[in-house]
Order: sequence, then structure tokens, then C-alpha cells
Amino acid sequence: MPPSPPSSGGLPAIVPRWKGNLSVADRIHRFPAKMALGLAEHYFDQIALPAFGATTGEGLRFYDPFCGSGTTLLVARARGFEVMGSDLLDSSTLLSRAKVTRLSAGSLRRLRSELNSNPLSYRTSPRWTWKSWSTWYQPSTLRALQDLDVHVESKHKSPYFAHLWVALSQTCWDVSGADPTVMVPTHSKLARGVPRVLPGEVLATYRSRLTRVLAAQGALGRLGISTAGIGVWKGDATAEKTWPANKVDVLLSSPPYGLGIDYVRAASLQSRALAIRDESAASRSEMMGRLGHLNEVEELPRRFAREAWYRSLKSRDRLRFQALLQYFADLREFLVACAAHVSGDGTIGVVLGDPEMGRQRVPLTSIAEHLAGSVGLSSLMPPVTDRIRRRFQASRRRSSTDPILHETLLTFQPN
Ligand SMILES: C[S@@+](CC[C@H](N)C(=O)[O-])C[C@H]1O[C@@H](n2cnc3c(N)ncnc32)[C@H](O)[C@@H]1O
Repeated sequence: MPPSPPSSGGLPAIVPRWKGNLSVADRIHRFPAKMALGLAEHYFDQIALPAFGATTGEGLRFYDPFCGSGTTLLVARARGFEVMGSDLLDSSTLLSRAKVTRLSAGSLRRLRSELNSNPLSYRTSPRWTWKSWSTWYQPSTLRALQDLDVHVESKHKSPYFAHLWVALSQTCWDVSGADPTVMVPTHSKLARGVPRVLPGEVLATYRSRLTRVLAAQGALGRLGISTAGIGVWKGDATAEKTWPANKVDVLLSSPPYGLGIDYVRAASLQSRALAIRDESAASRSEMMGRLGHLNEVEELPRRFAREAWYRSLKSRDRLRFQALLQYFADLREFLVACAAHVSGDGTIGVVLGDPEMGRQRVPLTSIAEHLAGSVGLSSLMPPVTDRIRRRFQASRRRSSTDPILHETLLTFQPN
């Protein structure tokens, strides 16, 4: 194990090991709260594989029920695991599929030939609009994106559809009026207004994004990843029916960290600008960390309820307090599913950060450890932390909330 640098909160910290090919394969799209590659590598190499006395994941089943952009799936595949992932958002499943699916030589050739196609109409009227469209795009920019979208959608049955979609989805963000320093497409005072991006420039951006996807395919090959397909599907991680029927051996996942990021909103610019893939209605009622669709849920035990952050939030902001209790109830359901679906000798890794609410840190990692114990999981190794270095997040404080500076890897096994 590499030597540990100074830790945060008294916990040992991980030394990151950025690997060229993993990094090239990973960097096809921006995504909020992506897991650090070094953290996933640490979990597989220092905890999960040694627990099985193995040096590769051959013959072991891996699952991530909050797969997001597919980072854990990528590292697990590079270690030889049979890989499965799910997420509530269609856009996450497409992103994960594109990141982890290595195309056959024939499909790769066809994907490369897409660099030469030009489906632009060069018209100035968008094919469809929505209420705030003109705050994001000039009309001819949006039309060019939608011309590309019609072309990409015509390939929806091809093995490389997800790869094309990811290149286009990122282009949508790149050519918009979004503030480039914020981790989800957002307007702000620092945004450049509505940029004038000509159709030819939209096409050039799309092609450069596609070139990145092609480079990622090369990296998957160098990592020794096969062209066999993987299972990625859409589903609520807190619902029994989403989980694989057969038990899994190794799980590594990072659920949302409290009420911080609105993942439905994070995907909404692309879902509006591109084919009407509006995910908001279904996903809002199941998203962890939501502010609406709340049920009657229990309060935390006294040990947490007497802490200052808890009492202050409960008295000052009833809605956010109820939403946080809902979040804890959802986290518990996820841990219940882990206990039921991970094999007796399996390992579970959960990555979380302690968010700030009302200017107070919520001790989410300690609460998660408590919830895990209450559903029949025991700790496997002492927690380790990882300083967030490369996370795409605003560089200066924009609101009353401080960013999360460290995330913590908790590890469990079923009792
Ligand atoms: C912290 S991100 C995961 C990041 C991922 N590890 C990566 O490296 O890209 C959390 C993810 O949880 C998903 N999510 C939130 N609530 C969910 C739920 N109830 N079921 C499944 N996925 C959910 C979000 O869509 C988001 O993709």
C-alpha cells in the first residue's frame, strides 16, 4: 500500500494513482460528482480483491446501483470483473454504456466514419423550442444541434448509439450560454451570455467530442477490455426490483451526498435541446436528495438528534429538514438492498462526503455507518478519505454552502 499523506478528520488519506489509459477512457463527458479513479482503484486493489484472495476480478460479479457516468464500472471492467450498473437517469445509463462498452472493429470503423458525415441543414429556425431556450442558444446554434440529434437518433439501434449521443450531449453543453466553471449547465453572472456559435462551429465541436470518444475506445483496448456487452439499466437503487436477481460479489457506489446536487436539473438542458427525452417527471419522485415527494419518515436516533446541526436545521428550515430525513430513509433502503443482494463473502464500498447545510456540516458518513450497522452490515476496514482535487466544481464560494472538500470510502460486509 502506498504511504499515506496527512489525513483529514483523523482518517488516513488515499494517494491517488492516475493511470493514463483509465484517465483517457474516463474523460469523454463532464459529470457532476464523478468518483475519483484513484479512489475506485484503491477499493478494488486494497480491499475488494484481497478479500477474495484474488488479483483480478475474473469470475466475480460487480454492481453499482448509482452508476452516474460509469467510473466505477470502468475501473471494475479494467480489473476483469463481470460488470453491471444502473441509475435513475437515462442520460447516466447512456454515458456509462458509452464509457464502458468497447466496440468491435466493424462498429469502431463505422463510428470513425461518422466524423465525415454532415447532417446540418444550416437553417436558422429551431426544430422545437422550450420556454427558456433563447437564454441558452442562438436560433441557428440550436437548429444545428437538433439536426445532429435527428441524425444521431436515426442510429438508435446501432451498437455505437450511446457513443454518438455522449459526444452530442457534451456539445450541447459546450456551445450553450452555461457558466463553464459550474458543474451543471447553469446561468450565472460569470456566464458569457448567449454565445454566437455558427452551425459549422457546432459541427466542429461535435467532431472534436467524437474524437475524444474514439480515443477512449483506444484506451479500452489497451486496458485489455473485451468487446462483450455489459448490463446497464435504468432503475431506482432504493427499490428491490432494480437489483440483479443473482447475488453480486463486489459493490462500489456513491449515492448523492445529501440534498446537494439536483441531478435531474443537471441533465435537463440536454434533455430539452435534444430529442424530447425529458426525464424530470418520473425521476423527481425517486431521486435521492429530492425536496419534494416526501413521505412520513422517522427521525434519527437521539445520538444524532441532539447535535447542533440537527437541532438548528429542524427549527429553522422544516422543508429541508424533512427532505434530509427522507434522504436518510432512502440511504437506509439502499443499504438494506446491499445486505440482501451482496454475497456472504462479498464486499460493499460506499463513497460519501459530509455536506454543509445552514452553514453546519452534516456528519453524513457517521450516519451512514450507523444506518449500515442497523441493517445487518458490519464494517470491513477503517474508513479512508480522498481530497477532491479534480472534481469539476465552482472554484469560489457562490452561495451559503461550502463545497465538500473530502469524500470518504466506507466499506462493509454482510453479517
Ligand atoms: C454521486 S453521483 C454518482 C457518480 C458516479 N459514481 C460517477 O463516477 O459518475 C449519484 C448518482 O445517483 C443517481 N441517483 C440519485 N437517486 C437515485 C436513485 N434513487 N436510484 C438510482 N440512481 C439515483 C444520480 O442520477 C447520479 O447519477
